[in-house]
Amino acid sequence: MNQESISPQSFLEAPSPESLKQAKTPDFWRSLAPELHVSPTPFLPAPPRVSISGEQLEHTLDQLRTEGYGQVPPILPKSMTDPLAAAIGKVVDAGFPGPFAVVYDEVWQLFASITPLISAILGPSYNIIPDYWIYHIDGIRERSGWMAHRDDETGQWSLGEDGLPLLLTTWIPLTDATLDTSAMYVLPTNRDPNYPNNLGEWAIPLEALRGIRALPAAAGSVLCWNQYVLHWGSTRSPRAKGPRISLAIYFRSAKAPSYDSQNINLGDPISFEHRLGLAARMMVKYSRWLAFPESVVEFSRSYCQEFFGSLDDFMDKEREALEKKVER
Ligand SMILES: [Fe+2]
Repeated sequence: MNQESISPQSFLEAPSPESLKQAKTPDFWRSLAPELHVSPTPFLPAPPRVSISGEQLEHTLDQLRTEGYGQVPPILPKSMTDPLAAAIGKVVDAGFPGPFAVVYDEVWQLFASITPLISAILGPSYNIIPDYWIYHIDGIRERSGWMAHRDDETGQWSLGEDGLPLLLTTWIPLTDATLDTSAMYVLPTNRDPNYPNNLGEWAIPLEALRGIRALPAAAGSVLCWNQYVLHWGSTRSPRAKGPRISLAIYFRSAKAPSYDSQNINLGDPISFEHRLGLAARMMVKYSRWLAFPESVVEFSRSYCQEFFGSLDDFMDKEREALEKKVER
């Protein structure tokens, strides 16, 4: 497979050299989005938890058990999603890929606010694996979501005996993800002839095509799936209006083995420098397949070395695993 096939994205404009120099300071990010916050304690004050009915929770758990994914209608308020979506727009306008928006407290507040949902799935003890992405699909810099794949990050079985995931991908649209702007699609596990015995296969046999499910999702919804669901983001239509902005991140139950040295505990302080390092880490991890400006990749490599002390063993292992999947 070639680079175009994993994610046909192109980030056209690089940040100015001055912006890259300033990017190591919280003030630069504050000036881009003055309505958001950059503090060392992004989980404080604790944000209001979303309200989700028992019936909706039961439905989501049942969907996860039987089809491998869950879809929760909008539970996050516009007061959370709108300012964050606007800030992500400013980040990409400044030439930085969306994942740099992780410097803002509001991203972490969003993750903490869905605690009632995540803890119902993973149990009360879980953490965040900061292997994440922030999409800004506007038809120019990004034209579609990622190609069909299974997350399967660890190669180890990650479903509990009850069929619920111990590692959970969550995908949160901050603007409406429609069939035109770019929606998520899944092949539910119970419609996938390669599940569970042939997970290295990412193609969809002809007879399974009618099992594909489109998941248009209004801003503030939460989609989630286990490590094995085949999923992809569709190509944006030229008729679409407004960018499709969304975040994806993993949560790990304490019952699953830890595999990322950078696990984040909800409630813990996370310095600005650490968050910038996490964004830089994602740039390095995915730079082999996504077309970022060279100056951003260079900045990220150098920042990873500066903050983590190296390019991180984990990242090399991950890159090898991803490469294997892509070249398969
Ligand atoms: Fe994925």
